[in-house]
Amino acid sequence: MKMMNVIAAVALSVAATSVAAADGNAAAGQQKTALCEGCHGIPDYRTAFPSVYRVPKLGGQHASYLAKALQAYKSGERSHPTMRAIAAGLSDQDMADLAAYYAAGDTKTAGK
Ligand code: HEC
Repeated sequence: MKMMNVIAAVALSVAATSVAAADGNAAAGQQKTALCEGCHGIPDYRTAFPSVYRVPKLGGQHASYLAKALQAYKSGERSHPTMRAIAAGLSDQDMADLAAYYAAGDTKTAGK
């Protein structure tokens, strides 16, 4: 339920502001995923350290949602400490490229 609210809120704010995001380049984005795959690319999306927690699957999500999420970590609107630290090091172009890459990525999701 909480997740649905988050998605709805993000969708609304995207619609309201229609962010003029930089154009993402999926190929460039792929070069930047080394930093992400240690968490977002693990089997079953569960980390083993420091504790077992679930990592969201990025592949197949909408580029605008992914870029917006990264912006929100960077700005502090989203408070997850790890992702904040990571997003702090990304430029708008990095975020757009990563979003384009993951949005184009395979959707191994069970639901779709
Ligand atoms: C140390 C582990 C780790 C690394 C490395 C990492 N992430 Fe994350 N990421 C997470 C976790 C855990 C969450 C869920 C955080 C939350 O609940 O807000 C997350 C959330 C996200 C989200 C939001 C997804 C959603 O469905 O709302 C995006 C987008 C994202 N990460 C992108 C990236 C990108 C791009 C990189 C590489 C530049 C990266 N992450 C590197 C652990 C990581």
